[in-house]
Amino acid sequence: MATAVSTSSAIQVNPHVAQAVRAGLTSLPKRLPPWLFYDEAGSRLFEEITELPEYYLTRTERSILVHNAGEMIARAADGARLRITELGAGSADKTRLLLRAAVAQQGAVLYEPVDVSATALLVAQARIEREIPGVRVTPYAMDYTNGFYLDRASADERRLVLYIGSSIGNFEPEEARQLLHKVRKQLAPQDCLLLGVDLAKDDAVLLAAYDDAAGTTAAFNKNMLMRLNRELAADFDPAAFAHRAAWNQARSRIEMHLVSRRTQRVRLAAFDLDVEFQPGESIHTENSYKYRPHEAETLLAETGFAPTASWTDERGWFAVHLARAY
Ligand code: AVI
Repeated sequence: MATAVSTSSAIQVNPHVAQAVRAGLTSLPKRLPPWLFYDEAGSRLFEEITELPEYYLTRTERSILVHNAGEMIARAADGARLRITELGAGSADKTRLLLRAAVAQQGAVLYEPVDVSATALLVAQARIEREIPGVRVTPYAMDYTNGFYLDRASADERRLVLYIGSSIGNFEPEEARQLLHKVRKQLAPQDCLLLGVDLAKDDAVLLAAYDDAAGTTAAFNKNMLMRLNRELAADFDPAAFAHRAAWNQARSRIEMHLVSRRTQRVRLAAFDLDVEFQPGESIHTENSYKYRPHEAETLLAETGFAPTASWTDERGWFAVHLARAY
């Protein structure tokens, strides 16, 4: 966990944030990492995004879980007792479908949500323990992207790691491989991974999902600038930047950018940095990779997992893969 340091401007600066922002805004093209989206306001905006009519991902993955949670749990357990660990659990909303199926099949289940936000974990824990008797929740507040440790499940138990919500899509292909490798290292043979991936599809559908009519995704993107204003004493004018979503066909990813509407200079007082922008110059804030057929299976096979089963929706827009560690 990063420790706060004082600066001459007397604000407390998180060095992890400072380092990423300085590197990103002094490089060409300019970029900022997508994890900066998720301060309190950004996490709230993301929850709003998941309810938007254009943002099909959450509701499509949910429908896959509604129809198949029982089979997913039975296949993962394969006759043993399951313990369920979730990476980036957040509100753990869709997870409840899997937890209910686990309770129905084995009577009780231990659920270990992992998330950077201790607040989100406490809210999820209270809700799950209230709504689903039989689930015991042991939360872990940590940033799983920086490496993590899971104790071994006991001999008569099998662990199922959930990595749903298409979060893997926000990692570059090599980073995604490294992350799944790290997950695999924490597992014993026969433990399982359930991975949710968004699939490549018609670009009009994709673009609408990342540039919605209500402007919620634009607000989510620009919230990053407000975060820098607050945490790094910056003076970004969010109105001086436009939200842009673009489909990069060659790399099968949606890109999000903040595009400068004019020539401007922005000051980041926390580290005495001025950043110049030309009209039309962009800050690249996110990639959201959309998997092509068999790409997820290849990724799983390359990282020590045997793809075991997969489920999709009737439009073939999203896929959930079950893979077993070997
Ligand atoms: C969290 N992640 C899977 C979202 C996505 O679709 O890539 C983040 C997001 N960005 C814009 N809208 C949603």
